[in-house]
Amino acid sequence: MNITQIKLHNYLSHRNTKLNLIKDGLYLILGRNKLTGLSNGAGKSGLVQDPIPYAYFGESNRCLGAGDNLITDGQDKMYVEITSIKNKKRITVRRERIRNKTTKLTINGKCGNSIKETQAVLEKIIGMDYDTFRHSVGFEQGKMSSFSKLLPTEAKSVLMRILQLDKYDGYYKRAKEIVNDLKSKHDEIEMELSLLGDTDVSPNTESRRDTESRVKTVQKQLSKIEKEYKRYLEIENEREEIKKQLDELKNKEYHYKIKIDQLRKKIEKFIQLKSCPFCLQKIFSAHKVSIKKASLIEIKKLEKQAKIIDVQIKEGTIKMPKSIADKVEQSREQDNELREELGNLKARLVSIEETDKELVKAKKKKATLAHNKKLLLNKMNDYLLLMNAFGKNGIQAYIIDNIIPEIQNIANDIIGRIVDLQLNMQTQKQLKSGKESETLDIIISDSNGDKSYYNYSGGEKTLIDFALRIALSVILSRRSGTQIETLILDEPFGFCDARNKAKIMDAINFVRRRFQFKKIFLITHDYELQDSCENIIEVIKDRGGSRIKGGLKNE
Ligand SMILES: Nc1ncnc2c1ncn2[C@@H]1O[C@H](COP(=O)(O)OP(=O)(O)O)[C@@H](O)[C@H]1O
Ligand SMILES: [Mg+2]
Repeated sequence: MNITQIKLHNYLSHRNTKLNLIKDGLYLILGRNKLTGLSNGAGKSGLVQDPIPYAYFGESNRCLGAGDNLITDGQDKMYVEITSIKNKKRITVRRERIRNKTTKLTINGKCGNSIKETQAVLEKIIGMDYDTFRHSVGFEQGKMSSFSKLLPTEAKSVLMRILQLDKYDGYYKRAKEIVNDLKSKHDEIEMELSLLGDTDVSPNTESRRDTESRVKTVQKQLSKIEKEYKRYLEIENEREEIKKQLDELKNKEYHYKIKIDQLRKKIEKFIQLKSCPFCLQKIFSAHKVSIKKASLIEIKKLEKQAKIIDVQIKEGTIKMPKSIADKVEQSREQDNELREELGNLKARLVSIEETDKELVKAKKKKATLAHNKKLLLNKMNDYLLLMNAFGKNGIQAYIIDNIIPEIQNIANDIIGRIVDLQLNMQTQKQLKSGKESETLDIIISDSNGDKSYYNYSGGEKTLIDFALRIALSVILSRRSGTQIETLILDEPFGFCDARNKAKIMDAINFVRRRFQFKKIFLITHDYELQDSCENIIEVIKDRGGSRIKGGLKNE
């Protein structure tokens, strides 16, 4: 990002300022506030330090909220337009704000569906976000020394923030939350598994076998009883049939006997008769004998037949099967008992079957739970690994351990050209407890040994701060994968005397060459420095606001 033009309209004290930056090199930005006679408040920072991040990110040191406070008092609309060259392509970014209304962001005159969308595209093009920008391109005025002044414990956390390593704390927290969540899910599964108990052996196996065999026995007994009952019914039928036949025979026999009796009585009566009661003729004894004889023959015939029937009755009686009713009654009682038992056994089998079905279900559930538990444990192990990776001793420590020597080398490279000082950065001191402490010590040594930062002079401190910040800036740009081609140094001299200022100017020139910065903007109130710089820009502020004076050495 090599800035080639800055246009400001109604931006802070600038009404219409156009700054062309054709040449590469070091730009000295000086200023005069004609209203006060001082350099302060001339509009120097308002020319580059503030509008560049506002245009690129909608944020800056001075920007509050959407940036209405950046609009020149009494005006309703402002814009900042920055043109830069990246990979030989011209990129013009313009951010326009209408007071209390809207902000419009365009890249080469175009914008996305939303400002958020355009912003994302822009950050991709320039290769950094605001946080990286403010720690690498545009150091805040008066904050150059803040890093070195920090206590060792603060220094490390600030460095981690600058390197954006604190984002890993967020990832660590998230991974921990997931691990805890997985752990509680795992505990739930364990609980469910313990409630399911042993599903490998059915507690009903024995009982089922006994019940089934008893069912078979009972069924056999029942079918035996059924057969007996059938037999009984057949016998009863036979008995009934024979009884009927016997009754008929007895009836017949009875009629024969009555007939015989009647005939005998008739004969006796006839023998005693002297004449016919109807015709009154005399009945002769010969006639009586012959009639008696005929009747006796008839009687004998009848008696013979009765005897046959009697024999038949006797035979039938013999044939008559013996009743087995009592036995059948007993069997019926047993049948009822057995049927009841069979009912109970079948009910029992159903319940055994149901519990066995439950067991099969439980077995399936157990298998699913065990599978889920395995998946959960695998996932938990992955997240535990992530937790370790995102934790303080993971990626963060790895990056810090690798970056610190680099920062140290770059800083020493800068410092070593100017003064005989050596900077040493140390992380993680071993504590008495054996634990490592989370600190970043910056130890500065000269030919007499190690000294505290506070022991050095104002000029030396400024130099140390400057070197450290440049080193950080270079590291950050390397990490973001973008070459920072522009560096803005806003009043970096602090309490430097003329000699130290000259040294820092040398260091700035060295840094520009060594790290190939296309443009370095040095904002200062120090007019004495004009002789050591090619490109001078003077900002003058009067009643009409701030404007650039095409003055001094500036063409
Ligand atoms: N909204 C505003 N409208 C007009 N002028 C403003 C507004 N906000 C700040 N200023 C003025 O703009 C100037 C900003 O100066 P700045 O660039 O910080 O000065 P320098 O860096 O030269 O000391 C100050 O004089 C300040 O009063
Ligand atoms: Mg300023």
